[in-house]
Amino acid sequence: MSGVALQPTQPARIMTVLVLGGTSEARTLAAELAGLPGLRVISSLAGRVSNPALPAGEVRTGGFGGAAGLAAYAKAEGVGAIVDATHPFAETISAHAVEACAQSGLPLLRLARPGWSPRDGDDWHGAGSLDEAASLLPNLGTRVFLTTGRQGLASFAALDRLWFLIRCVDPPGGPLPANREVLLARGPYERESERALMRRFGIDVLVTKNSGGPLTEGKLDAARDLGIPVVMISRPAAAAAESVTAVSDAVRWVESRMLSITT
Ligand SMILES: NC(=O)c1ccc[n+]([C@@H]2O[C@H](COP(=O)([O-])OP(=O)(O)OC[C@H]3O[C@@H](n4cnc5c(N)ncnc54)[C@H](OP(=O)(O)O)[C@@H]3O)[C@@H](O)[C@H]2O)c1
Repeated sequence: MSGVALQPTQPARIMTVLVLGGTSEARTLAAELAGLPGLRVISSLAGRVSNPALPAGEVRTGGFGGAAGLAAYAKAEGVGAIVDATHPFAETISAHAVEACAQSGLPLLRLARPGWSPRDGDDWHGAGSLDEAASLLPNLGTRVFLTTGRQGLASFAALDRLWFLIRCVDPPGGPLPANREVLLARGPYERESERALMRRFGIDVLVTKNSGGPLTEGKLDAARDLGIPVVMISRPAAAAAESVTAVSDAVRWVESRMLSITT
């Protein structure tokens, strides 16, 4: 009998990364990381959207119970690094990630796509919040295409002289503008279909968050084509963490964390 031990065919798991998700970038990142040997990938979703597009690899759903809950979860799962790839407007979870990582000494990377910038022919009106966006509308138009998502629509509820086309993934709750149509849809949206939609509903002003990214940019092209003003809600302050804008840079960051724990 030989005394040579059998070698495992797969390398041992050496690191667990937690991806805070809910964005297309988070799904792309999870798919790319899932192929790395020696890495366990857990994606976390808030659970707000029914029937979400699921990332590759392990997925957990629902809030952690604040920063302390996130730190406790990371400890229990043996997480070695966190990538916060949540939406640029998901301010609370990003702050919790900073706090949890500071508490537990875990490395944190923020992955956030770049914001949109105005181009020639755009007529953008900046707003720092949904309330400010609402206050600008009566001077800009009467038929509003509201694409800020299902949360925070109460900011527009008192504008009963305006008509709203409200587009979101799931039905909105809470106070809504009286004169409205709700359109349930999930992107991506192309320039031509956005232009046709705005024409069909006689839209004369668009409201959007500066989410950035190509998947929902078509509405900005369409507004420019039609000479429609855009109320652009600016992003909240960036989380205090090392940041990248490209998924490939986030993959490299995770790889460098893996190297640092094996050398
Ligand atoms: N805000 C937007 O415009 C927007 C647009 C598209 C997609 N999203 C996605 O939708 C999710 C919710 O957005 P939000 O603006 O409501 O977030 P938020 O205000 O920053 O977070 C509120 C709470 O939801 C929980 N949460 C948020 N993201 C989570 C995640 N990925 N995994 C586990 N728990 C999470 C946390 O609960 P606990 O405190 O209990 O941990 C957090 O405190 C985010 O994951 C985001 O990526 C948001």
